Amino acid sequence: MKSSPRHVGLALAIATASVHASAQQATPAASTNESPDARATRLIAAMTLDEKISLLHGHFPRMMRVLPADVAPSGGYFPGVPRLGIPALRETDASLGVAENGASGNDATALPSGMSLAATWNPDIARRGGTMVAKQTRQRGYNILLAGGVNLTRDIYNGRNFEYLGEDPLLAGRIAGASIAGIQSQHIASTVKHFILNAQETGRHVVDAQIGEAALRESDLLAFEFAIEDGSPASVMCAYNKVNGRYACENPDLLSGILRKDWGYKGWVMSDWGAVHSVAAANMGLDQESGQELDKDVYFGAPLKAAVLSGMVPQARVDEMVHRLLRSLFAVGAIDPQASLGAVDVDGDNPVALAASEAGIVVLKNDANILPLGANAGRVAVIGGHADIGVLSGGGSSQVIPYGSVRLTAPSGYPESVKGPVYHPSAPLGAIKRRAKGEVRFDAGTDIASAVAIAKQADVAIVFVEQWAVEGVDVSPRLSGKQEALISAVAAANRKTIVVMETGGAVLTPWRNKVSGLVAAWYPGGQGGEAIARILFGEVNPSGRLPVTFPDSLDQLPRTSPAGLDLNPVQPRRFWESKSFSVDYKEGASVGYRWFAENNYKPAYPFGFGLSYTTFSYSDLAVVSSRPLKLALTIKNSGSRTGEATAQLYLQRAPQRIQQRLLGWAKASLQPGEARRVEISVDSRLLANWDVRRHRWRIASGAYLINAGDDANDKSLTVRAMLASTTIRP
Ligand code: BGC
Repeated sequence: MKSSPRHVGLALAIATASVHASAQQATPAASTNESPDARATRLIAAMTLDEKISLLHGHFPRMMRVLPADVAPSGGYFPGVPRLGIPALRETDASLGVAENGASGNDATALPSGMSLAATWNPDIARRGGTMVAKQTRQRGYNILLAGGVNLTRDIYNGRNFEYLGEDPLLAGRIAGASIAGIQSQHIASTVKHFILNAQETGRHVVDAQIGEAALRESDLLAFEFAIEDGSPASVMCAYNKVNGRYACENPDLLSGILRKDWGYKGWVMSDWGAVHSVAAANMGLDQESGQELDKDVYFGAPLKAAVLSGMVPQARVDEMVHRLLRSLFAVGAIDPQASLGAVDVDGDNPVALAASEAGIVVLKNDANILPLGANAGRVAVIGGHADIGVLSGGGSSQVIPYGSVRLTAPSGYPESVKGPVYHPSAPLGAIKRRAKGEVRFDAGTDIASAVAIAKQADVAIVFVEQWAVEGVDVSPRLSGKQEALISAVAAANRKTIVVMETGGAVLTPWRNKVSGLVAAWYPGGQGGEAIARILFGEVNPSGRLPVTFPDSLDQLPRTSPAGLDLNPVQPRRFWESKSFSVDYKEGASVGYRWFAENNYKPAYPFGFGLSYTTFSYSDLAVVSSRPLKLALTIKNSGSRTGEATAQLYLQRAPQRIQQRLLGWAKASLQPGEARRVEISVDSRLLANWDVRRHRWRIASGAYLINAGDDANDKSLTVRAMLASTTIRP
C-alpha cells in the first residue's frame, strides 16, 4: 500500500489520539454510562466561554495559513479542548469515499456516484457503502464525515446532481438514511446536506429559492425528513442559498421551526463552507460555522464572544449550540475511544464498490437482445469516453481520487480554480478485452472517420460517451463536443451499436433511436470498468432503475437553463461578488416524473425504468389494510434468467389535487418461473397534503387510485383504496 507523507502525518495523529484515549479516563470528556445529554451537560459546566467558542468555528485546512503537522488538507478541523479530553474534530468529505479535498490521491475506495446509488433502489447497498466509507474514514483518523447529500434533482443541469439521489423524496430519503445509518454504525458522525434547495450551482451563494411551504414540505423537505428519521444524522449542514428571502443558514423558519419544533431534531446545524453571513445567525438556528477561511469574517469566533458578553447572543444559546454538538458526537461514539480498525484494506473493501456499481447500472435499450454480449460477440470496437484509461468521476469536494487515477486538464470554459476530470482506475477497455473471445480494438473517438473505420470492421461497436460534472458549475444536458455526431456516425456504420453513458444524471438522447443498446453507467466508481463489462457480458443481470426522468426534449422541463446564468456566467472567485437573483420553483412539489405526469409529457425514459435480461409480470394488486395503507402484489419472473425485479407503487389520483407520487417499492430476486407475493407499506405523508393553516398533514377521505408496475408510466395494474379523513402532526 502506498502512503503519502500527509497520510503518515495522519497516522501519527491517530496514534496520538489513542494514547490520548487511554489518558482520557481522568478527563471530564471520558466516556461514562450517562446519557449523551447528561454527559454533554456535565462537560459544558466545566468549560470556559473561550473553550465553548472554540468548538463553534472551524477551519478549512486547505486554506489555513499554517497547517498543523497532524492535520490533512481535507474538509474541516477544530483543535478540540485537550484540557478536558475533547479531541480535535476532523472532518472529511463525503458520501462517495474518503475524499481528502486537496490531496492528489489516496488509498480510498471510490463508490459509484450518489445518482448510481439511488439507481440501485436498494437501501442495503447504501448502508454497506456508508459503513465501508466510514470505516476508511476512521482508519484515516477522522471523526466526522460530510456525507449525506440529499437535495432533489429539480433541474437536469444541476452540476451536483451526481452527488445526490435523484428526483423523488421517498427514494432519495430512504437511500440517504440507510447510508447515514451505515456511516454512524462505525462511530463516525454524519451530516445530511444541503438544507435546503441548493438545487443548482450557478450563483449558489446568492440565489434565492422561491417556493410555497406546502410544496416544500411535500418534496425537498420530505426527503430530508425521511433521511433524518432513518439515519439520525449527528448534524445537518445548512445550504449556501437563500430560501424565500433568507439565507438557509440564518433562517429561523427552517432551522428552528421545521427542524427543531416539528421534527424534534437533536443534532447540530453546521454551515456549509462560506455560508455564514453574520454573528446574528447564532440567534437564528445556526450552531456551528464551518470553513471559516471562506467567510468574510470568523463570525462565530471573536464576534460571537463579544455578542455573548454584550448580551446580544444569550449565554444559554451558546451552551445549547455546544450541547447539540457534544451530545451528538457522544451519541455516535465519534469522540470516544474505539477499538483500532488497523490500516485501510482497499482490496478487501473494493467488492462493496463493485456490488454497488453493478446494481446501479441501468439498461435503457436492448433491441433484439443485443445484450448480453455472448461468447459469439465476435470482434468488438470500443470507442470514445477514455475507455482505455478508466471511468469518469464527478469533481469538487466529493471527489475521491484512488491511487492510479488519471486527471486530465479541464475543458475550456471552466473557471481557473477548477481542476480537470478524474478517471478512476478501472478501464472498461481492459475489462472488455478480458472477456471478449474475438479481437477488441479501441479508438479514442476524437476523429469520427477513424472510429467509423473500426466500427465497420467489428461485429459490435460499443461507444462510451461522457458528461463531466463538477461542483460549482452547472452542466449542459447535451453530450458535449462531437459525441452526438460520433454516435450517429458509428451507428450508421454498424447496426449493432451499444452506447454506454458515464454521466452525472439524465441527459438528452436525441440519437437513441439509431442505436441498438443503451446503458446508463453514471459515474460508476473505482470498480466501474469491471462492473460495466460484467453487465455487458451478462455475468450480472442488470437491476438498476432510473432515479430521474430522462426527458425527450428540454421544452418539457420547468426551466431550460440555469437561473441567473446570464448574470453569473462564471462563479466569481470571491463568491459574495456573485450577482443576486431568484429562482421561482413554479413546479412546487411536482418535481421530475410528477411534473411529467401533470403535464402529460412523454419522456425519453421514465422514472423507475430499467431493463433486465429476464422479464417480470405483476398481478393481483390488492389493498391489505387501509390504516395505515398496505398493499400486496405478486411478482413473477416470466423470463428465462434469474433476475431482480423492482415493483413500484404509484399514487395516480386522489380526492383532492395531489401529484403522481411514488408510494413504495419492493425488490425481489427470482429464478425463472418463480413468483413471490410482496407487501408494501405506504408512509401516510405520501397520501397527504400539507395543510399550511392547520400546520399538519391532511389525508382527504375518498378513493385513491394506485397503480403498480415497472416504472412511473406503467399503469397496467390498478387498485382503488378507500381512505378515511386523517390528520398527521409533524
Ligand atoms: C460543499 C460541501 C462540502 C464542503 C467541505 C462545500 O463547498 O458544498 O458539500 O462538504 O465544501 O468540503
